[in-house]
Amino acid sequence: MLTALASAQAPAPPAAASAAPATGRGSSFDATLTIRADHPGSKIDPRIYGNFAEHLGRGIYEGIWVGEGSAIPNTRGMRNDVIAALRKLQLPLLRWPGGCFADEYHWRDGIGPRNKRPHRANTWWGGVETNAFGLHEFMDLAELIGTEPYISVNVGSGSPREMAEWLEYMTSDSDSELAQLRRKNGRQKPWKVKLIGVGNENWGCGGNMRPEFYADTYKQFATFIKKYSDTTFERIASGPSDEQYAWTNVLMAQAGKQMDGLSLHYYTLPTGKWDAKGSATRFGESEWHATLLRTLRMGTFLSKHSAIMDKYDPAKRVSLVVDEWGTWYDTEPGASPLYQQNTLRDAVVAGINLNLFQQHADRVRAAASAQAINVLQALILTKGSQMVLTPTYHVYDLYRVHRDALALPVELSAPRYLLGQASVPTLHASASRDAAGVVHLSIVNLDPNRSAQLKLKVAGAPSRKVSGRTLTAPTMTALNDFGAAPGVTPAPFEAIQIEGERITVTLPAKSVTVLAIQ
Ligand code: AHR
Repeated sequence: MLTALASAQAPAPPAAASAAPATGRGSSFDATLTIRADHPGSKIDPRIYGNFAEHLGRGIYEGIWVGEGSAIPNTRGMRNDVIAALRKLQLPLLRWPGGCFADEYHWRDGIGPRNKRPHRANTWWGGVETNAFGLHEFMDLAELIGTEPYISVNVGSGSPREMAEWLEYMTSDSDSELAQLRRKNGRQKPWKVKLIGVGNENWGCGGNMRPEFYADTYKQFATFIKKYSDTTFERIASGPSDEQYAWTNVLMAQAGKQMDGLSLHYYTLPTGKWDAKGSATRFGESEWHATLLRTLRMGTFLSKHSAIMDKYDPAKRVSLVVDEWGTWYDTEPGASPLYQQNTLRDAVVAGINLNLFQQHADRVRAAASAQAINVLQALILTKGSQMVLTPTYHVYDLYRVHRDALALPVELSAPRYLLGQASVPTLHASASRDAAGVVHLSIVNLDPNRSAQLKLKVAGAPSRKVSGRTLTAPTMTALNDFGAAPGVTPAPFEAIQIEGERITVTLPAKSVTVLAIQ
């Protein structure tokens, strides 16, 4: 965020895709796809389906924390409906407390008796931070959901000592003063925390640093990330945003050996302009197309940042951690900061990005979309006691089958979806094979007007049985709203024809489909 985006270029089709000529604007187009089960790649790390919760708008307060005295059913102050929904999703990873907020957060503000915690201005996102939701509450949430905590520590306005004491407080099993303080505050056992983000966007809100300065600062902080239990921390350096290739280059050259991961941020703005991003819900085909064109740029960023990392780390020891991604629209007047609705367009964006992460499974080993509740491309929206699951939530649910499976290359031949001078692929796919030998294909039809007649083959694993689920709706702007029947929910996928080993499926226009092929 917080840098001007360069103007979008039409991304190249994915390496293995060939672009057949467009077949016009009829009601369907033909395509073929071969899944190369005979060429398995890297294991898909479940952590790529992670999410992010920052002290921003109604993300934490109202979205998660309502307080023990609330009429909204809660467990130790946290909403039961939200906990149940995230638990059901088996959310693998949750990043906290920011974002830009992380570089002004002092962890001691959020421990001890709640009525004694200081109230401070949230200078990034407005309002007053009561610190009612602090470390113990976050860790409680992580345990209730069954997710791995990913802590972003304060570099921009913090110190190595403050960070080191936080790590000791969380993970030491000794009788040190900090471990005793944690026990006094109600937590006997150390928490299991591995992922430590060393600052956030330190080229911008995290301190406006030059890459050389941050590389030195990162090494200074990383030196004091010690071991307090049997858990070894994984150190994630604050990485580039979209096209900041020089940041990656300097960081990898100067500090690559001291890091376990490098973060990458990229937000999809329909217009590409921060001062007029576009509406979340009022859009037509040109905004649909522009949004998909821009989100596909993620593929270019992953390839180019990975190639730079390869120069310094050919063994791919350092992960690329896409810990902020998703759509970012204009906030409606009167809405809480960065609150936006979520439509079928967001589901398609989610499908494309998750496909890209799976295609880059050799380097992308963790990710977090922004953000979990009531902020940006959320999984969940709340209003008072009500909660809705967004179309994006359902995509995460559909894609769960890929976790820990081996990524499989996909050869796709399909027309391009043209609008004006710009074009995007009509279809976007990724595949994997799980431990039981089941091949899963996730495939997005970006074309809002035409269904796809897709001939499907699995090379190296003759298949005769297909089932699946699909997410689509009659309109591009369909959404799930409070007090209304959901407009976008997954349905069983039945448009399957099988003759011997010849499989043909009909993918609805503007849809995200996940198939199991055996
Ligand atoms: O997710 C919202 C903000 O976007 C985060 O605080 C920051 O890291 C990014 O710029």
